Amino acid sequence: MFSKYKKQAAAPAAPKPAAPASVAGAPPAQGVKAILRRPEQRAAASAAPQQDRDRKRKERLSEIKIELHRELLENLNLAALEKATESDLRNEIAAIASEVLQEKNIVLNREDRQQLNKELYDEVTGLGPLETLLKDDSVSDILVNGPQQIFIERGGKLELSDVTFKDERHLMRIIDKIVSAVGRRVDESNPYVDARLQDGSRFNAMVPPVAVDGSLVSIRKFKKDKLQIDDLVNFGAFTEEMAAYLQAAVSTRLNIIVSGGTGSGKTTTLNALSSFIDNAERILTIEDTAELQLQQTHVGRMESRPPNVEGKGEVSPRDCLKNALRMRPDRIIVGETRGAEVIDMLQAMNTGHDGSMTTIHANSARDGISRLENMIAMAGIEMPIKAVRSQIASAVNLIVQASRLQDGSRRMTSITEITGMEGDVISMQEIFRFQRVGLTPDNKILGHFTATGVRSHYSERFRLWGYDLPASIYEPTVMEAR
Ligand SMILES: Nc1ncnc2c1ncn2[C@@H]1O[C@H](COP(=O)(O)OP(=O)(O)OP(=O)(O)O)[C@@H](O)[C@H]1O
Ligand SMILES: [Mg+2]
Repeated sequence: MFSKYKKQAAAPAAPKPAAPASVAGAPPAQGVKAILRRPEQRAAASAAPQQDRDRKRKERLSEIKIELHRELLENLNLAALEKATESDLRNEIAAIASEVLQEKNIVLNREDRQQLNKELYDEVTGLGPLETLLKDDSVSDILVNGPQQIFIERGGKLELSDVTFKDERHLMRIIDKIVSAVGRRVDESNPYVDARLQDGSRFNAMVPPVAVDGSLVSIRKFKKDKLQIDDLVNFGAFTEEMAAYLQAAVSTRLNIIVSGGTGSGKTTTLNALSSFIDNAERILTIEDTAELQLQQTHVGRMESRPPNVEGKGEVSPRDCLKNALRMRPDRIIVGETRGAEVIDMLQAMNTGHDGSMTTIHANSARDGISRLENMIAMAGIEMPIKAVRSQIASAVNLIVQASRLQDGSRRMTSITEITGMEGDVISMQEIFRFQRVGLTPDNKILGHFTATGVRSHYSERFRLWGYDLPASIYEPTVMEAR
């Protein structure tokens, strides 16, 4: 049965050694059955004292699993495998495993047997130990620090998982599998890589010797159902009043920058804000890894591309952006601005593509402006600082600050408007903020949202566009966050 997925003998196989000396050091090309025909192991099993039996059985089980993984991967005809139905393949794997167990004289309970079959299946078709974590919807990030340490983020908190790889080779094999599927390579000379998994998750890996203690992998899981405005209000990320303000801001085509640190919820916020865009508008999105999920019908998605192994074929975010401007967009959304594309982004915002949005890495609105200034300087544009600032001030209307607080919660800690220039300085006014007041005994952050009392610079614009926000939302009262 299994043979249907087995590679046709490609190269003349080396004659099978009669009895390999040890499992760990066994050469790779032996048949599955060869692993089992090890009389000395069988003898060892029967001679084992009672109390050691359980431990030995587990060890042997893990040996068999490792050996089987390797055998399956090396001998399976992967092309035939692609056509196999899931249940077909599961049955094949279960049949092989059961044969192996029988010959090894190992009796497993139903649960162990199912677990073994599942792990084998994951190893053959998927990403091995990572597969369980990828399927677990409560896990949002997976962070691998070498083969023995895998951290996960769940509900905003990092925790050490009980999942491990067998060794660095095992981890490398999974990394290879991921990157070769997208036509990339990772090795000593190309020690890091960015890729997108089949399910849309964002993947980054760095391998030794640059990664000192074993390969480092970070995965930002793709959420099928992105958090929407209502969800974020329900989670206490911001209030209904702030949502009403943001709706007016997006609908009246203010240019918005979402600023925040790593994993602070920038992309989530950008995605949620995009839901306020009218369905009739033509939106173009540009990202390094396509994460945004816009609800509108008229959306063109672009993904920039790093250079390939020979250093060719790069399509930078700036290339995408320049091209996007020739594609008659109503709005442009850039997933993250971090380099030379800032010039074109600001120009687009200034010249008829108002209502555009992007994110930047920064810790406050003021910091965000400095980041933009730096990016412009790094792009090699030599302009007096005043000119740079006035370009920014006339392009950007609003900076929304996303933060991941130390208790793991994510909040929109500030909404700040840019109102123009005063001399050489960009003038800004904060409209809403999250006010921290203390900590609960179990280290949860206590605080509330409040308006600052400053009326929006754009309130007349809002009114003219039909978003007549009540003056009360600007009053500095403690706002109810859920
Ligand atoms: N308000 C929120 N409440 C709960 N979870 C959230 C909230 N905002 C974002 N998340 C979750 O936090 C994780 C990180 O969010 P997101 O990808 O938006 O961050 P980011 O700032 O874009 O990260 P990066 O800097 O890596 O691009 C995601 O799993 C997302 O679903
Ligand atoms: Mg992001």
